Amino acid sequence: MNIPQTGLSKQEVLATLKAFKTRDMDWKGGKVFCYVYNPGEDPAEVTREAYMEFLTENGLDPAVFPSMLKLETDVVRMVINLLRGDSNAVGHLTTGGTESIMLAVKTARDKARAEKPHIKEPEMVLPKTAHAAFHKAAHYLSVKPVIVDIDPQTFKVRAEDMEKAITENTILLVASAPSYSQGVIDPIADIGRIAQKQDLLFHVDACVGGVHLSFMRKMGYEVPDFDFTVPGVTSISTDLHKYGYAAKGCSVIMYRSREIRKYQIFACTDTTAYTLINPTVLSTKGGGPYAGAWAILHFLGEEGYMRIIETVQEATQKLIAGINAIPELRVLGAPAMSMFSFASDSINVYQLADEMGKRGWYLQGQFSTPLTPRNLHISVNFGNAQNVDILLKDLRECVEIVKSKEPIDSDAIRQMVSAALQGPDPEAAFGQLAASAGLTGTDLPSGMAFINEVMDALPDSVCNVFLINYFNDLYV
Ligand SMILES: Cc1ncc(COP(=O)(O)O)c(C=O)c1O
Repeated sequence: MNIPQTGLSKQEVLATLKAFKTRDMDWKGGKVFCYVYNPGEDPAEVTREAYMEFLTENGLDPAVFPSMLKLETDVVRMVINLLRGDSNAVGHLTTGGTESIMLAVKTARDKARAEKPHIKEPEMVLPKTAHAAFHKAAHYLSVKPVIVDIDPQTFKVRAEDMEKAITENTILLVASAPSYSQGVIDPIADIGRIAQKQDLLFHVDACVGGVHLSFMRKMGYEVPDFDFTVPGVTSISTDLHKYGYAAKGCSVIMYRSREIRKYQIFACTDTTAYTLINPTVLSTKGGGPYAGAWAILHFLGEEGYMRIIETVQEATQKLIAGINAIPELRVLGAPAMSMFSFASDSINVYQLADEMGKRGWYLQGQFSTPLTPRNLHISVNFGNAQNVDILLKDLRECVEIVKSKEPIDSDAIRQMVSAALQGPDPEAAFGQLAASAGLTGTDLPSGMAFINEVMDALPDSVCNVFLINYFNDLYV
C-alpha cells in the first residue's frame, strides 16, 4: 500500500476505518472477557471527550504545558491516596502496566548500581505467576529473573520460598495483587517483612487490582492489605486503563519516597538539541490518556466506582458458582476479585473456547505448567456483567458439543512435537506444524484449539521462538 496521491474525503476515511473493525470481536456486546474495560455509555463518553480535548498537548515539557503537569499530579495523588500512601509517596503516569513494571525494575537496578556496586549480575525474585512484563523488563534491562514456584492448591507464592530464592545479587522482590492468571493475591505482608529484614526493594504488581481491590476494601469486602500500609512495600503499579476504566495508555507507577523514585528519572543535556528530562520511558507524551483518566476518576467518584464494583462482584460470584456447577468444569483457587480461570479433567478447554468463539464469546486460553493445568481465563468487567446467564447457558451447551466431538489427540501431538524437537531441522518441522495449525503467512488463524495444543506441548524456549517467527511474518 502507498500513501494515496490525492487525499480521501473525511467520510471515506472514517467509513474505511470503521469497516476495518468488522472482524473484531464484539466487546460492545460484552462478549470479550479480557482486553476491554467498559464503564458504560456515559462515563465512556466523558472519557472520550476529555481525551479529545487533550489530543494535541504534549507531556514532554511541563513548562510549556502546565496543564499536563496538573493532570498528572492530580491523578497520581488520587491513586496514591487510594492505595494509602502518605505524603512522602510519589509517582508518575505511564502508558500501561508494562511500562510501570519496566520502570520499577530499572529503578531497582539503578539504585543497586549506586548503593550496592558489588552487585554485578542483579537478580529479581519473581513468583511463577508474576506477569510476563517482568520477564520483558529482565530481558531489556539485563536483570536475571529468579522464578519461584507457587502453591499448586492456592496458586499463591509461599513467602518462605521467596526468601530461599534471595542471593547476594538480589535487588528486588515481586508479588501480585492479584496475579492475572488465577486472580489470587500473594502473601504481601509476609513478603514485605522479608524485604525489610533483607533490606530489599519490594514491588507489588497491583496493575489489575489497585483500584478494584481498594474499593472492595472500602465497601467492606475482606481484602488482605496489599498497598502502602504494608511495611516493606516500596513500589506499586496500578493500571487505570484496566479496572480504573480509563482510556488505554494509562497506568501509575508509585514509590514510597522520592529517594527511591529518583533512580527512575533520566536527564540528558549531552546533545545539540533541547534539554531532555524524562521521568518515564516516553519523551513525547499525548495528553489524551492523562485527561481521560482525570475525567473518569472525577466523573465516577468513589460512589460510581463502588456501584460498578458491586455489579461486577455479583456477576463474578454468579459466574463462578455457575461454572463450578457444570460437572466437567472447575474454577481454580479462590479468586480475590473479578478475575479467575477454570479447568477441566474431562474435556479439552481449548476446544471449548473455540466452540464459545463460534457464538461470539472470547475466553482466553492459558497454557499448562508443571503446577497448573491448562485453563481458560475470564476477567469480568462492568461491560459484560449483564451477560452472566447467557454465558453460562452457552458454556453448558458448548461443553456438551465438545463432549460429542472427536477429541484432539494430545498424546499424538506431544509425540509429533518431541519428534520435531529431535529432528535435524526443528525450525522447518515447526514451520510445517504451524502450517497444519493454520498459523502461517500474514493471516490470522480462525480456530485456536490445535494451535494451543501444539504450543502447550512445546518447551517455553521453543514456543517463544515459534511465536517470534510468527509475528515476524504477520506484520509488515
Ligand atoms: C497483573 C498484570 N500486570 C501487568 C500487566 C501488563 O499490563 P499492560 O498490558 O497494561 O502493559 C497485566 C496485563 O494484563 C497484568 O494482568
